[in-house]
Amino acid sequence: MHKIQRQLHKDHFHLQRLLHCLSHEIDCYSFDSKRAPDLDVILSALDYVRIYPDKWHHPAEDVIFEKLIQKKVKESELIKELQNEHQQIIQETNRVLELFNNVAEDCIVTADELLTAARHFITLQIQHLEKENEHVYPLMGSSFSEKDWREIEKEVILQSDPLFGSTSKKEYDHLYRYIITLEKSKEN
Ligand SMILES: [Fe+2]
Ligand SMILES: [Fe+2]
Repeated sequence: MHKIQRQLHKDHFHLQRLLHCLSHEIDCYSFDSKRAPDLDVILSALDYVRIYPDKWHHPAEDVIFEKLIQKKVKESELIKELQNEHQQIIQETNRVLELFNNVAEDCIVTADELLTAARHFITLQIQHLEKENEHVYPLMGSSFSEKDWREIEKEVILQSDPLFGSTSKKEYDHLYRYIITLEKSKEN
């Protein structure tokens, strides 16, 4: 498997873990929740989505998807829909981040508004990556030659993941520890 392909697969796995944690924290805004939300975790998770998946993962996929469309794969229509969803996801990230920034600045945002926007964002992300996993990612292995990958490499420069990568940044320490603790608590 090419290293770019491997990184994209890893990103999906990591993004699912992050969305699961975000969903857990968002549930604190439900009227029957007995937990208080950790706003730092929510803001940090959304900030990470904005600076890594939105800035590297989706643009890298766009380069690869364009190449699959050029090869006239039968999934081309679906691939075009997924490219449009990338734009939608980026807009949604900014919208949800703005809502939670308002909360951090003590502006009035209703719990209902937060829940609706955040759950819509999470569902959109999960459905998007599941469609990619099922219908498009297998095509990377079957459709690209070594020459194709060399061309892709000219446009897609690998970047380290600031949360899950081996040289993760200090600013995501709290979020990373939160994810690990939550996963361990679910195992028990
Ligand atoms: Fe995507
Ligand atoms: Fe993806």
